[in-house]
Amino acid sequence: MPVILVADDEKRYLDLLRKLLEPLGYEVVTAEDGLDAWRRVRENPPDLILLDLAMPGLDGLEVLRRVKADAVVKHIPVVMVTGMDDSRTRVEALEEGADDFLSKPFDYAELRARVRSLLKVKAYHDHLRRYNLRLEKTVEERTRELREALEHLKAVSEETILRLCRAAEYRDEETGMHIWRMSRYSAAVAEAMGLGSDFVESMLHAAPMHDIGKIGIPDHILLKPGRLTDHEREIMKKHTLIGARILEGGRTAYVRMGEVIALTHHEKWNGTGYPRGLKGNEIPLEGRIVAVADVFDALTSRRPYKEPYSLEKSLEVIGRERGGHFDPEVVDAFFRALDRIRSIREEFDDRRAQLMPSQVSAGFQWGDAFIPYWEDAAAGLQPGGKGPTQPLEMAGGTQWPNPSLSLLCVSY
Ligand SMILES: [Fe+2]
Ligand SMILES: [Fe+2]
Repeated sequence: MPVILVADDEKRYLDLLRKLLEPLGYEVVTAEDGLDAWRRVRENPPDLILLDLAMPGLDGLEVLRRVKADAVVKHIPVVMVTGMDDSRTRVEALEEGADDFLSKPFDYAELRARVRSLLKVKAYHDHLRRYNLRLEKTVEERTRELREALEHLKAVSEETILRLCRAAEYRDEETGMHIWRMSRYSAAVAEAMGLGSDFVESMLHAAPMHDIGKIGIPDHILLKPGRLTDHEREIMKKHTLIGARILEGGRTAYVRMGEVIALTHHEKWNGTGYPRGLKGNEIPLEGRIVAVADVFDALTSRRPYKEPYSLEKSLEVIGRERGGHFDPEVVDAFFRALDRIRSIREEFDDRRAQLMPSQVSAGFQWGDAFIPYWEDAAAGLQPGGKGPTQPLEMAGGTQWPNPSLSLLCVSY
C-alpha cells in the first residue's frame, strides 16, 4: 500500500486529508510540524509527501530543501500545499524541486488525480531503481565470474605449457627441476635489469620452453652418456630450430617469447653460438638472459656425466664469460640479483624435488612397518614419519635402518 506523508500544522487539514486519502487505498502518516515531517521522511521514507508551505519552525520550503538535497529520499515526489496565492513562494518552491502544487481548500478530484499520477511516477521510478540495482549486481557477478574464468584459463594454459616443457625435459633431466629454477633465475635477472613487470612475468612463463625442441632429438643422441661426435652435436644443435618451429606463430605473448627463446638461447654475445651465430644486440634480450640462467643452472646441477660445480666456481665461470659467451649487462644484473638467485637455488633443490610428499613414497618395509623417509635440510635423509621413531633393535646392535636402502624405494 503506498504511504503518503502529510505535514500540516493545522490538525483539521491533517484529518481532512486522511479522510480523503485513506478510502483511496493509501496509508496516511501525519506530521504536525516541519521537523517532525523531516524526521519521519528519514526514518521511514514514504512514497509521496504533501507539505504545507507555511508551518512554524521548519517551514515547508526548508523541509523540501532537505528532502531534495538528500540522496536517499530526493526521488520522493513532494507536493507543496499552499493556502495563500503567493506566486513568489511558488517559484521558489519550484526552484527547490517541488513536484507539484495543491491549494487549499482542496478540490477533491484534483487532489485524487495529482496524488495518483505522482504515485505512478514514484512507482515507475522505484521499479527502475530496483531494476538498475539488480542489473548492477548481475553485471558485477558476471564480471567476477568472467575474471575468475579468465584467471582459471590463464592458469590452465600456464600449467599446460609447463607440463609440456617438463615432458620435453623429462627424457634427459632427472628431476625436471631445471626449468623451474632457470625460469625463475631468468625472471630475477630481468627484474634486476629494471624491465617491466609484464616482461618479467613473460620470462617466467616463456623460459621453460627453451629446450622444448629436444623432443625432436633421437634418444641415442640425447641420452648418450659419452661425448657426442661432431655429427651428433650438429643434430643436437637442431633442438633450437625444432623448438622454434614447434612454437612458431603463437597467439599469446608467452608462446611468442618462448619461440624467440627456443631459437636464441644458445647464441653467444661474441658471435660463436648457434644456430645463427648472432652477435651482441642482434641476439634478442630474452635469449641473452636465458643463456646466463640456463648455463648457471647446468653448472650448479648434477648431470649423469658430471658432479655439480660449487656456487663459487659456477659464479666464476659466469663472470669469466662476461662479454664472451654472455651479454655484460645481463651478467651484471645476474650478480645484482645474486641473493634471489641463491634462494631460488635452495628452494628448488633437486634432492627436495625427489622428496616432495605429493610425488614420493620413499622408505622401506621393516617387518609390518613401512618406514618412510623425510628430509632434514641439515641432516639429509632421515627415517621417520609413520614408522618407528626410535632406533630399531637389529641383528648386530641397535641402529637406525640403513638409509641407503630407501633409495631402492624412491618413486616419483
Ligand atoms: Fe638448449
Ligand atoms: Fe636448459
